[in-house]
Order: sequence, then C-alpha cells, then structure tokens
Amino acid sequence: MACSIGGFIGLRLGLFALFLSLSLGACHPRGGGGVAGSTDPIQDTGDQGEGLYQEVSGDEPEVGKGYWDNLYSTDQYVFGRDPSSFLRSHLDVIPLGRALDIGMGEGRNAVFLAKKGFEVEGVDLSEVALGKANRLARDQGVRIRTILSDVARFPIRPDVYSVILNINFLDRRILPSIRKGLRRGGVVVFENATTDQLRNPGGKDLRREYLLEPGELRRVFAGFEILVDQEVNDGKEAVARMIARKPLN
Ligand SMILES: C[S@@+](CC[C@H](N)C(=O)[O-])C[C@H]1O[C@@H](n2cnc3c(N)ncnc32)[C@H](O)[C@@H]1O
Repeated sequence: MACSIGGFIGLRLGLFALFLSLSLGACHPRGGGGVAGSTDPIQDTGDQGEGLYQEVSGDEPEVGKGYWDNLYSTDQYVFGRDPSSFLRSHLDVIPLGRALDIGMGEGRNAVFLAKKGFEVEGVDLSEVALGKANRLARDQGVRIRTILSDVARFPIRPDVYSVILNINFLDRRILPSIRKGLRRGGVVVFENATTDQLRNPGGKDLRREYLLEPGELRRVFAGFEILVDQEVNDGKEAVARMIARKPLN
C-alpha cells in the first residue's frame, strides 16, 4: 500500500513524505476487518477496538495500523474535511449509486459523495480514521458505512459499485478487484503520486513502489473508457489522476 502526496500541501505534504519514506507495516498489513451492521461474513469490528481487530487479522502488532491511528489521533482532520478537488470538479461524470472509498481515511471524500446522494462504503485499517469519518458524516447530516479492514483482505463484490474512489492510496494487489467491482457504466476515480515525485524536492526519499509509473493507470484500466487522464508535475507535486468508465457491454 502506499499513499500519494498528490493534492496535499504543507503539513500534509510533510506527513505523506514521512509516510512514504518509511518502511511501514501499514503498507502490507495482513489485517482483516468488518462491515458494520451487515450480514457479510466478516464480523463488525468498527466499534470494538484494536484487540478485536488483531483477533480477526491474526496480526502481530501492526506498525502500519498504529502509525495511522497515531497520526489521526487529534481532533483536527489531518487531511481536511474538504473533498479532493479532482473528485469535486468531476462529479458530473459519476453515475449516482453505490460508492466504495478505498483507504477512506477521515472521510472527506466519502462524506462528500454521501451528501450528493450516493450510498457510500469506506474501507480503512485505522479505526481512529473510521471514527472521525463517522463523526464527519454525522456533523454533515449523512450516513456512511465504515469498514475496518486491510483493503487487501476486503472482498470487493463484483459488478456492484457506481464509483470506486482510490485517492491518495496505492495497493496494486487490489487493482483487478477495482475493475471487477464496478458495475457496467461505473467509474473509478483514481488519484495518486507518480514516480516523477522522486525528482521533486519533497520526494527524494519516497519509495518507488508506492508511486504510479508513467502511464500505469492507462494500462491498468485498458478497455475502460478514459474520461479524464492527467499526469502533472508542477515541481512540488507529481500526480496522476484518472476517471475511467467500465464499458456498458
Ligand atoms: C493518505 S491517507 C488517504 C485518505 C483518503 N483517501 C484521503 O484522500 O483523504 C491513506 C489511508 O489509507 C489507509 N490505509 C493504509 N494502508 C491500508 C490498508 N492496507 N488497508 C486499508 N487502509 C489502509 C490509512 O489508514 C489512511 O487512512
């Protein structure tokens, strides 16, 4: 797993750079998780704390989960309450329906979609993040479904989602499931830092495996209709952004 610095500045940039430069278990946890209030085979762990998470996952102490929980353990929203500007500015091409937010964090994007009428599920391994996401949803008068899980262990059901968000997060193991998880006509909204970031002042120590290679999203979503395709580097942030639609037939 990795997380992009794309779209974040200042403190956020520093935090991401720190994260990306570390060899964190967060990137490869083996955790399981749960779905609140559902009949899914995985049990709800969202409100029951770290002990149960570890029981479900079978993990040793999780460096990555601990890292994120620690980072999020502040009343402030580390990545803000506002959605990704990329997501916000392309809402018009996203068909209404079920949404899945991969590596949801504190819920800024999930809550945005919920306010627009989507039925939103968000997956994250940090229960602190999920708690904050639920709080943000409550504060803004909407509901979201939070799922405490390592995304690599979360079974994305095929042909379900109108939109899957993958924003500032990268785990290549789940890319095929993202393709499958979209319903026909559904779109993936992808945003993550690219390897060009290694050439930028803030990116020298980043780990390449957490960064998208040039053109990688086009290869991953080959056969989809590419609605938006950007790879930019302004000298501070090198980011790839894509919205791609699963074919109707
Ligand atoms: C940089 S943050 C991005 C959060 C959110 N997408 C946003 O843009 O605000 C990355 C998120 O991925 C989560 N994460 C990291 N590894 C994960 C994994 N293996 N499974 C699920 N979530 C993970 C972290 O807890 C963190 O909330």
